[in-house]
Amino acid sequence: MNFEPFVICPPGEKSPKPRPVDTPGGLADRMRSAAFAEKQAIHAFSWACERFRDVPQGLLDDWARLIPEEEKHYQLIVDRMEELGFSLSERPVSMRLWESLEECETGREFCLRIAGAEERGRQAGLLMIKYLAHKDPATAAVFQEIVTEEVAHVQLAETYFGWTP
Ligand SMILES: [Fe+2]
Ligand SMILES: [Fe+2]
Repeated sequence: MNFEPFVICPPGEKSPKPRPVDTPGGLADRMRSAAFAEKQAIHAFSWACERFRDVPQGLLDDWARLIPEEEKHYQLIVDRMEELGFSLSERPVSMRLWESLEECETGREFCLRIAGAEERGRQAGLLMIKYLAHKDPATAAVFQEIVTEEVAHVQLAETYFGWTP
């Protein structure tokens, strides 16, 4: 799995705590984590489309459709980080999300687990939008576009398995 240009924490280790949100480093840390979550989602959905045959074809098609959206989310964050002069590799990130997804033995388990992660990411995004609304509207707009599209991603778990956050 190639996660360049990110610097990955040693296996089983947590990523360093983000710096306070009201510092430039704190915003960079949160954007880096968000970008890395998108990166892991891209890999995870591609992997799941190959790995699982125990779910309806419709869900496999839906997962495949999410990949370009996750790629877009990743690029939106990375482009904005570049504008702000933030580095993706400045601090290590944790691969725990990908590791926990890779452990899934059924398509259902994968669907529910990634939907849970996407919902947590969406909630974190909503908090960032609130926080940045007046301070940094351009970055808030990036998170807004992402959280809006993530609603449909999380929805797949309800559509196919009746799960709601
Ligand atoms: Fe996303
Ligand atoms: Fe997503």
